[in-house]
Amino acid sequence: MWGGRFAEGPSAIMREINASIPFDKILWRQDIAASKAHVAMLGAQGIVSAEDAASIADGLDRVAAEYEADGVPEDWDLEDIHMVTENRLTELIGPVAGRLHTARSRNDQVATDFRLWVREAIDQADAGLAELQRALVDRAGEHASSILPGFTHLQAAQPVTLGHHLMAYYEMIRRDRSRFADARARLNESPLGSAALAGTGFPIDRKATSDTLGFSRPTANSLDAVSDRDFALDYLFAASQCALHLSRLAEELIVWASQPYGFVRLPDTLSTGSSIMPQKKNPDAAELVRGHAGRIIGSATALAITMKGLPLAYSKDMQDDKPPVFEAAGLLALSVAAMTGMVADSTFDTANMRQAAALGHVTATDLADWLVREADIPFREAHHITGAVVKLAEERGVSLEELPLEDLRVIDERIDERVHGALSVDASVASRSSYGGTAPDQVRQRIAEARDALGMED
Ligand code: ARG
Repeated sequence: MWGGRFAEGPSAIMREINASIPFDKILWRQDIAASKAHVAMLGAQGIVSAEDAASIADGLDRVAAEYEADGVPEDWDLEDIHMVTENRLTELIGPVAGRLHTARSRNDQVATDFRLWVREAIDQADAGLAELQRALVDRAGEHASSILPGFTHLQAAQPVTLGHHLMAYYEMIRRDRSRFADARARLNESPLGSAALAGTGFPIDRKATSDTLGFSRPTANSLDAVSDRDFALDYLFAASQCALHLSRLAEELIVWASQPYGFVRLPDTLSTGSSIMPQKKNPDAAELVRGHAGRIIGSATALAITMKGLPLAYSKDMQDDKPPVFEAAGLLALSVAAMTGMVADSTFDTANMRQAAALGHVTATDLADWLVREADIPFREAHHITGAVVKLAEERGVSLEELPLEDLRVIDERIDERVHGALSVDASVASRSSYGGTAPDQVRQRIAEARDALGMED
């Protein structure tokens, strides 16, 4: 009854479920590089003859040139990039190609290729994030004393400078870069030579292949080496944290660009129009950066769950390690580039920002601080007096600065004419000069340090 289907069906399904070539062909450069390192070592150790090693190395170069010119052929019967390459090598140089796989398994081969790929992804992320930091630092320098309302609970809280606000993201990205650097340092051990799971009896030189491929040292345990995907997870966790930061910046730009705020005009090049509302300019790139964070964090979750509970050593589940990493890396690179463009090319409306900072009695804390400093009133009492002043300003529909002195003195007679100097938003930000505070002088010092760290001109 099932014969007609089962004679063909299972193998067709098997072929499809098994094939990783559609996605792992992206590893071809790493696969060729690792194979060349391996065969050079086999030749140097006398495991294959110098002549065979040279012919294999030459053949690998020819395969690489074909891939470069025409792409990698997707033969599902050959399963993956490793078999596709070995097959083509055999077609080009004959049976001697079969010596390449001496003292090697696809298990240590894929672990090596994938580490090399993730290492490059880390280096690319780091370069992109350095660009984003430079853009942030440049804009922060322009706006070291531009005032906008600072929020807590998204309620106007205290005035801050835009430079200070942008430098907050510089700090987040600094930590992201440090997480990627940590991930890179842990990743940088060579699994090559661990073979299937137990090592090999051939007299290989693992240090040699490790050095050739730019690793710091060979991995110390073959069982761990072929089944470890911590390096991919480290990358995805760092990418997740970074995407989360980018999504916060994206969200702020989206909110700031909306009409009731009007703090920023996003670049036309990173916005779209509406097919029905001619006046619209939508922050799509920022919204997609915000959205992509979900997919990047999802990738980290996907791989963590794939790895959960796997016994030593390699299991085929681990072939599923690659799509989440490739997807996250693509999304992260785009997100970083889009954010860099938005930071570099947005126009901040300093008049609107300043006007917004005048709302919401954001200098109330300055009044309370003034009462503490100048009238020696305990902070809790000063807070209470200031509350009464805010209430009065609210009833009259004026700002704290606009309340006449005699009305302030009715609330508390210890208030005198000097208070008005403390109530402007400029005085407020200038006074917040503690280390890391929003005072323009502080912000400029942090910017100078950041420029130095990034190797930027003063
Ligand atoms: N395509 C496989 C992967 O990505 C390569 C390793 C296959 N190893 C094996 N023993 N079947 O995981």
